[in-house]
Amino acid sequence: MTQMTDAEIRARVDNLLAQMSAEEKAGQLTQYFTFSRAPDEVARVEDEVRAGRAGSLLFVSKAEEIDRLQRIAVEQSRLGIPLLFGYDVIHGLRTILPVPLAVAASWDPAVAEEGQAVAAAEARAIGLHWTFAPMVDITRDPRWGRMIEGAGEDPVLGSAMAAAQVRGFQGAFIGAPGRVIAGPKHFAGYGAAFGGRDYDEAEISDNELWNIYLPPFKAALDAGAGNVMSAYMGLNGVPATGNRWLLTDVLRETWGFEGFVVTDAGAAADLATHHYAADLGDAAVRALDAGVDMEMAPPFGEAAYRTLPQALAAGRITAAQLDTAVRRVLDAKLRMGLFEAPYVDLGAAAAMLAAPAHRAVARRAAERSAVLLHNAGGLLPLSRDTGSIAVIGPLADSARDTVGPWVFEQDDNETVTVLAGIRAAAGPATRVDYTPGVTMPARLHKSIFEDDVHAQTQRLVVDDDIEIANSVRLARAAEVAVLVLGEAHIMIGEHASRSSLDLPGRQQELLEAVLATGTPVVLLIMTGRPVDLKGAEPAAKMMIWYPGTRGGEAVANLLFGAAVPGGKLPYNWPRNIGQVPLPYAQLRSFRPDWAQERYWNEGNAPLYPFGYGLSYTTFSYAAPRLSADRIAPGKTLEVTVDVTNTGPVTGDEVVQLYIHQRYGSAARPVRELKGFQRVTLAPGETRAVRFPLGPGELSYWSAARRDRVQDETCIDVGVGGDSTAPFMTSFEVAG
Ligand code: BGC
Repeated sequence: MTQMTDAEIRARVDNLLAQMSAEEKAGQLTQYFTFSRAPDEVARVEDEVRAGRAGSLLFVSKAEEIDRLQRIAVEQSRLGIPLLFGYDVIHGLRTILPVPLAVAASWDPAVAEEGQAVAAAEARAIGLHWTFAPMVDITRDPRWGRMIEGAGEDPVLGSAMAAAQVRGFQGAFIGAPGRVIAGPKHFAGYGAAFGGRDYDEAEISDNELWNIYLPPFKAALDAGAGNVMSAYMGLNGVPATGNRWLLTDVLRETWGFEGFVVTDAGAAADLATHHYAADLGDAAVRALDAGVDMEMAPPFGEAAYRTLPQALAAGRITAAQLDTAVRRVLDAKLRMGLFEAPYVDLGAAAAMLAAPAHRAVARRAAERSAVLLHNAGGLLPLSRDTGSIAVIGPLADSARDTVGPWVFEQDDNETVTVLAGIRAAAGPATRVDYTPGVTMPARLHKSIFEDDVHAQTQRLVVDDDIEIANSVRLARAAEVAVLVLGEAHIMIGEHASRSSLDLPGRQQELLEAVLATGTPVVLLIMTGRPVDLKGAEPAAKMMIWYPGTRGGEAVANLLFGAAVPGGKLPYNWPRNIGQVPLPYAQLRSFRPDWAQERYWNEGNAPLYPFGYGLSYTTFSYAAPRLSADRIAPGKTLEVTVDVTNTGPVTGDEVVQLYIHQRYGSAARPVRELKGFQRVTLAPGETRAVRFPLGPGELSYWSAARRDRVQDETCIDVGVGGDSTAPFMTSFEVAG
């Protein structure tokens, strides 16, 4: 397929627009859900497609069904405009990669890019054109379940992961073969929902918006993302989906975004729910006015954009406004090559979903994502010939939980659980016993995506008391106990916030009972937020997240030393929920000498700092060297640091560069990440790692000047393996 030129695309769009009725135009701007378990709804949507009143569908995830619906659009609608098929391909379609927060913990953008390229290949093969990803919302409140979809608390790490994911999904240009359009979401500020309660409003200062929440979006757009999804919640008093400042002033005018904007599900109609718009018709007008091109209609509800033809007739919107939005959608369809090749190659789709190379990518990503938190006495790695291992916990053998939330097309039968991974990798003479230990509690409310399949988490255990006793018995008889605890996949993600970081159900009791046996315990934590273990201290602790299709294989490789953990935390890990929010990049304030005593009953420090993670080897850092001790604003210097592997095995270190600005037009955080590199070092090997520091790193949005500035100032520089790296040198920025 040859790529069309911009001029050719414009001519095709003009030609189509000239033939379209207002109804057909509104149709191109409307995206409908089709849930296969609601056949009446599918029939209704089919009629809309045939009538040319639907431009896009979501949640059709079977190749045959996509092909069937596309044939209706192309062969039975008046103008034959193909449908754009969108879907939530968040961390894989059939091959499930670790959750996005886990991939961020790899601190390796190549892992994100390669993983999302696999996701894109599978999605495109079944006929999808567009993914509602990456989710680039910064999260500083782990109560918010959607933390798991993002890259954590930091804008620099978040921006790197956002850009890498866009490159992976979309490739070099929109319409690249085997790729899909990426839609960074949720624009903007959704991660700051009050109390971490999903969908609740966010109040974010301009300082935080420009310096923390917006940069990952900008990075995703700079990487070429063709779509942006608006957010559900109110931002500073105006619903994000009706927020013209956000969707037009910032997105289009300041950043020059030329792709199309879609609402989150039902968020246009929702403008009336927010008591912002008067009714459905007013909601449509206000969404279009704000800068929304396409409405993702509410599942099972009335689409607001159906009313656009009346709004046009009543003079509430202009023909030019309508055409501008339609133009952007048709542009995306033409760039994706839909008019030339609308249909699905079903044979190729099946082969793509089965690709063994995709599973290898998933396993490697899971290995690179794990974060080793604690390893007393070098308990890990275990020998494959340990003799006897007791594998305990409700998540140890749950295929569904191993792949985490936001997956729908996975094959639970091919998913390797931690138990299966350990069984396959342990030496022939090693006995592996298993008990689920306790039941996972049921949730209070049903998740919107929870159907019969997704609800089936742990129902295996009948009596927790008996199972805890059984766990103690197995642990006593084993040389080592491997506990897999955390949260069931339905306890995190959308509509799944928690008001506590405790292990749900009786898992804490199980952990303490097993610890009391004296058998060394390796705790594998399966979730996507920090947990509060209330001081319980297993000898080894590793964050395995929801590791995906090949998760168990990866975890076994890490446990037995075939892979060496090298991931680092993408968030500060609080001691308890009362400390939240606790970003590492906070401002210095009154009485810094009391900075560790801000609470009467608790220190200020996190349990584990942002950027923290151990290895099976150790690293040492030489003092960083600067290429200059003074630079003019706008100029760049280089920081070089020698990092040495001082331990016994080859391992990875994530070298992190932090700065602190001593004074300026606004106060800056005590430290900010400004660069990172994950390097692999053999025992004894030293590597010189280099980072640039220039206007990109040193400028910021100044709340005092209300603009981006670079101050004349003094900058402290620290390089190390986590966000406690000491500042060891400094330089002047002066004209
Ligand atoms: C979520 C979006 C998602 C959409 C479609 C919404 O509820 O907020 O992130 O893309 O549903 O599934």
